[in-house]
Amino acid sequence: MFDLILRQCSLPDGRRGIDIGIRDGRIVAVEAGLAATAGEVIDVAGQLVTPPFVDAHFHMDATLSYGLPRVNQSGTLLEGIALWGELKPLLTQEALVERALAYCDWAVAKGLLAIRSHVDVCDPRLLAVEALLQVKEKVRPWLDLQLVAFPQDGVLRAPGALDNLKRALAMGVDVVGGIPHFERTMADGAESVRILCELAAELGLPVDMHCDESDDPLSRHIETLAFHTRRLGLEGRVAGSHLTSMHSMDNYYVSKLLPLIAEAGVAAIANPLINITLQGRHDTYPKRRGMTRVPELLAAGVPVAFGHDCVMDPWYSLGSGDMLEVAAMGLHVAQMTGQDGMRACFAAVTETPARILGLEGYGIAPGCRADLVVLQAGDPIEALRLRATRLLVLRGGRVIARTPPAVATLSLPGRPGLVDFRESRQG
Ligand code: FE2
Repeated sequence: MFDLILRQCSLPDGRRGIDIGIRDGRIVAVEAGLAATAGEVIDVAGQLVTPPFVDAHFHMDATLSYGLPRVNQSGTLLEGIALWGELKPLLTQEALVERALAYCDWAVAKGLLAIRSHVDVCDPRLLAVEALLQVKEKVRPWLDLQLVAFPQDGVLRAPGALDNLKRALAMGVDVVGGIPHFERTMADGAESVRILCELAAELGLPVDMHCDESDDPLSRHIETLAFHTRRLGLEGRVAGSHLTSMHSMDNYYVSKLLPLIAEAGVAAIANPLINITLQGRHDTYPKRRGMTRVPELLAAGVPVAFGHDCVMDPWYSLGSGDMLEVAAMGLHVAQMTGQDGMRACFAAVTETPARILGLEGYGIAPGCRADLVVLQAGDPIEALRLRATRLLVLRGGRVIARTPPAVATLSLPGRPGLVDFRESRQG
């Protein structure tokens, strides 16, 4: 006897006609023709059922603040950082909590049930840290929020930042962050990587740094991050976020760098929507895309996830918490339009970031948490093409969000009336 059975599921790995049996919040059976009864049975009629979307890189302290105190006129990264500096003194904990909770509602509606968010620790009041720790507890029943102590203004460059960062970790922030390319010199950047990796090793915490987020082909902080990861035995616990300078690096140097990243077990997190809009701003034409070398990193054995990074904040005025939009942008920018490439981009917003975040019980197999999303699509590629509607979102076997199917009704002479854009329509 199950609490719930989802019948006729298509799974991301290509299996079709699969039934998923759920009991006590966990998946108990995954098989075709499951002969059992359940309190509730939902026939999903061949739609894709996937574990939830996971965002490996976000800024929840800034989200939904677009236009406060003014909009970013140039649309550049540096004006965004300056604007965030103007906004910080005006922030209140109540407003931070309210905006973050509103964003978490959007996320749940889009089947996004785990987010790693950086939180700026350069304000000595640590208002944002307190607010997001509160939000983390509040949303825990429906969304896993992991926090990174992020010294936005540079852990060495900003007075008191290292102490603030340590205080944030002591308060319960999960991950050590950094921003070496924003320190005053390349040497200070390298020193910041050393200090922060040693701190993480001492505290037994993971590391996720904004790293080489520039178009500077000579930025080398990812090399330093890989070096200290190995030196300190942090393999498998470190991620380099953005890595956009790699786009512009010398090809020979990259051929040496990729194996160093792979052997250090460092994961890469690209942020396609933001990288394509913020990088290459000093170029005329040809204009660089700025996203890191995703197919080459994957070929070298480096796990690559995609993050949303920003939604309606000083850096980016768009976005809605839709990780399919993020993945679709990633596959276009990286030209990963082959079948395997598109599936890797789907994995970059689901299973790969789940591994990077260390999520317990993620997946569709007996024993996994019954956190699932039913999409209005037949397979991951169709989901990407359509930014498919999240028909049902389940957490612990309970439906926590529903969206009606996207279907248009046409009034055309002699033509069928319904259009939903699916190619692999079933059931
Ligand atoms: Fe970021």
